[in-house]
Amino acid sequence: MSEIESPIDDLLISEEQASNLTYFAFAKSHNAEPALAPKKASIGVLPDVLAGRYRLERLLGAGGMGAVYRARDLLHEQFGDPDPYVALKILSEEFAESPDASALLYSEFALTRRLRHDNVVRAHTFEVDTDCQRAFITMEYMRGLTLDKLLCERPLGLPWKELRDIVLPLLDTLAYAHCRGVLHGDLKPSNVMLSEDGLRLFDFGLGQAEEGVLPGLPHLSRERFNAWTPGYAAPELLEGQPLSAGADVYGVACVIYELAGGKPPFRRVASTLARDEHLERELHAPKNLPKHCWPALRKALSFNAAERSITAGQLRDAMSATSSWRQRLRFRA
Ligand SMILES: Nc1ncnc2c1ncn2[C@@H]1O[C@H](COP(=O)(O)OP(=O)(O)O)[C@@H](O)[C@H]1O
Ligand SMILES: [Mg+2]
Repeated sequence: MSEIESPIDDLLISEEQASNLTYFAFAKSHNAEPALAPKKASIGVLPDVLAGRYRLERLLGAGGMGAVYRARDLLHEQFGDPDPYVALKILSEEFAESPDASALLYSEFALTRRLRHDNVVRAHTFEVDTDCQRAFITMEYMRGLTLDKLLCERPLGLPWKELRDIVLPLLDTLAYAHCRGVLHGDLKPSNVMLSEDGLRLFDFGLGQAEEGVLPGLPHLSRERFNAWTPGYAAPELLEGQPLSAGADVYGVACVIYELAGGKPPFRRVASTLARDEHLERELHAPKNLPKHCWPALRKALSFNAAERSITAGQLRDAMSATSSWRQRLRFRA
């Protein structure tokens, strides 16, 4: 595995950075250890083939907690599957020994699997390789471009015709997830892919279920939890409030704003700082955005959660409105 291990070593964050990203502490109520919790003594290096079945081929991306590979499902291949590729998300060696981390990966799997929507990545399985004792997820392998890469290629943003084809399915997907009681928690360009099969929302690694939904999943203790992405995280999240649908709406509004004009709404600084420095005073409608979309998007970008009184579905409706019935919408200047 040396050829794919070295890029990960390069990408792994330092211990100090890792402590900022700590999201492995559970609320006191959670005391059950996962049955297959990896044990420190037997953690091994990543083999070429996981669980006797998935051959790791290429590193697709790596973050604070793990890495995503393209893998070939040898079992499906053996039975003649012409497209036996899957994406495989696995904890990095550093975190593989933590039962909390494995349970979090399971939580990401369970949240994703709860969503059956054309625009949500399809989760296949959650497994543990018993030799190297590492938990992993397999999912649909998406071929395409994440929105952060798209923005690198299109630094001035997208014209409305193109923008609309991204924004409407994205908002539709988020509205659906919220209806199913699933909060994403990390809406940002690198977690949305324009794949060959259409738009896909993925990476529910910071996601959470609404109260009463998937009650068996562990609850994260937010005290030691500081993993939000500052440029897209709503102020209340950075100030320790629990994740909410409103926080997702703030994140998606930042993504839409950036796609429309190529620039983030508040110069990519943390939203708490942007609020304290009154950066909203210099906020203008991006030039590629039709006028009728701005009042709703502006509302979704409110720093104050109470003023951000718009749902993902309402934002979608406002953005899909045509001039003939626009007047009927509530979100006007
Ligand atoms: N199912 C997939 N198919 C193809 N590429 C993927 C898939 N899932 C993730 N990736 C790639 O790996 C990167 C990291 O994946 P992600 O789930 O966002 O992990 P992290 O939690 O580290 O951000 C993504 O930005 C994307 O480029
Ligand atoms: Mg991600």
